[in-house]
Amino acid sequence: MIDRITIRKPDDWHLHVRDNDMMRACLPYTARNFGRAIFMPNLLPPVRTMAEGIAYRERAMAALPEGSTFQPLITCYLTDDTDPDDVERGFKEGVFTGVKLYPANATTNSAAGVTDFAKIERVLARMEKLGMRFLIHGEEVDPAIDVFDREAVFIERRLIPMTKNFPGLKIILEHLSSKIGVEYIRSAAPQVGASITPYHLQLNRTDWLGWGNKPYMYCMPVIKTEPDRLALRDAATSGDACFFLGTDSAPHSVAKKLAVVGAAGLFNAPVAIETYAQVFDEEGALDKLEAFASLNGPRHYGLPPNEETITLERQNWVAPEEMKVEGPEERALIYRGGEVIPWRVVS
Ligand code: DOR
Ligand code: ZN
Repeated sequence: MIDRITIRKPDDWHLHVRDNDMMRACLPYTARNFGRAIFMPNLLPPVRTMAEGIAYRERAMAALPEGSTFQPLITCYLTDDTDPDDVERGFKEGVFTGVKLYPANATTNSAAGVTDFAKIERVLARMEKLGMRFLIHGEEVDPAIDVFDREAVFIERRLIPMTKNFPGLKIILEHLSSKIGVEYIRSAAPQVGASITPYHLQLNRTDWLGWGNKPYMYCMPVIKTEPDRLALRDAATSGDACFFLGTDSAPHSVAKKLAVVGAAGLFNAPVAIETYAQVFDEEGALDKLEAFASLNGPRHYGLPPNEETITLERQNWVAPEEMKVEGPEERALIYRGGEVIPWRVVS
């Protein structure tokens, strides 16, 4: 039995840290164990221009603990009106690592997202030319589509045509959540890769809804069936280059999570790498953790892996239940808060 594992420092290829008080509270959890993270741009207002990207990166750097070497990677929020020249400048000047597509109203803070896919073609053509990555919240928002089928229908209606129209565009389908999605990614790699969250690896919809409604398991894309969960575990632990770590850690205040219309998103940064280690251990695949957490993501993004390492040990600890936040948001509950976690980062 393996009780200790050292891997290159992981990166989080999908993270929400919000802004201001919430960012100051939650960013240290990620900076502790990860070398870099892709910061999602769905703020209010979103990070839509190079100028907004520079300002957000400065606020992020100011929120880091003293002496941290953690690197925020900023993304541009795509709208119907995004200017390809601004995207190009942002990329060439090292402000934007990629562009993120939210179909309008698909999830938290996506009202300013894309409503007309014809309007974004000029930006996609420019990104293809530049070799800039395209990050996608892949859910179809047509109200006729069942919420559990949104990912599959998006792939069919939107993603497959985009890969054909822009064959040189490298894409990330974020927070992959379904068996159909896993099969699609295998067929579309290496053009398309996918990030996978810890909670889509751990939970199915019976966990979420079967024993009372658990608002802290509500996220977008929604947690799906057991066959979906098993397909995702198989994908993540395969070591295949097209699957990599993206926590989708997304803190919300307790008030927002428990509102009549509750916010989607789970705050998992405090237990993220430990939870992935547990999943890989359960699958007998600890030897594949480094590929998933630290190598496949950088390769898909065309970036070098981190040089530093982290070490995890089999050691029980209890996850904190909540995170205090200055100001009106007050506190956010932590995914798996109060649970015994069997793996721990020791250095
Ligand atoms: O559950 C989610 N929460 N899914 C998303 O796509 C966005 C995120 C958030 O920003 O809270
Ligand atoms: Zn997200």
